[in-house]
Amino acid sequence: MSGWDEFIKKYQLGMTEPRKLVVDSIPVLKKHNVRTVLDHGCGAGRHTVFLAQQGFDVTGVDISEEAVKRTKALLEKTGLEARIDAGDMRSLVYPDSSFDAVVSVGVILHGLHADIEKTISEIERVLKPKGILVATMISHKDPKISEGREIAPNVYVGIHGPESEEPHYVCDEGILDRFFKNFDYLMKRYGEGSKGDKKVFGMQKRYPWELIIQKK
Ligand SMILES: C[S@@+](CC[C@H](N)C(=O)[O-])C[C@H]1O[C@@H](n2cnc3c(N)ncnc32)[C@H](O)[C@@H]1O
Repeated sequence: MSGWDEFIKKYQLGMTEPRKLVVDSIPVLKKHNVRTVLDHGCGAGRHTVFLAQQGFDVTGVDISEEAVKRTKALLEKTGLEARIDAGDMRSLVYPDSSFDAVVSVGVILHGLHADIEKTISEIERVLKPKGILVATMISHKDPKISEGREIAPNVYVGIHGPESEEPHYVCDEGILDRFFKNFDYLMKRYGEGSKGDKKVFGMQKRYPWELIIQKK
């Protein structure tokens, strides 16, 4: 079983509420006539279900088989429909311009520099022109960074409890802007995380970057 399967089994089930960023993004998605949404790294499915409840045509993808299983079970329980796939964010199976929006909470940041660049270029590829990306990244303001170990420039392990040994990429504003250079910012803020995050990580104020951005 992979580390992510373990994470989903043990911890993510406590995360049931959608993240405030995703709730806040709904009027923006509706204003831009978004219909198809990719829940990128869907985990145990909290945003897949929330987005389907909002009336979007949702696809979820995650590298963890356990995540795929949990998300499908949650959809069945709630009587909602979405397509759920096992897949790697660094090489998505979807054709170019498949989605009006991508929602990616706590996902893009898991990798080394080259992984993040590949992941973002894949998001750009599957988004339609002027498509919207709703995403979080870890910011340099995160108080847990000092407890972590830097294994490559800007990449830390040991800064999250349950998923501690997974790589976490930390961005200051300059790095963030370079990663997302092919997008225009509709919103960029330091967030707080959700009550579910507090339950799982024991800490809500992590000051993550919360982004709503539009492909140029
Ligand atoms: C912190 S969880 C967030 C889950 C979900 N977005 C949420 O907010 O509840 C990170 C998720 O990213 C997934 N993930 C990690 N690396 C991945 C990769 N290379 N490709 C696809 N998914 C990945 C994990 O399996 C896990 O479900």
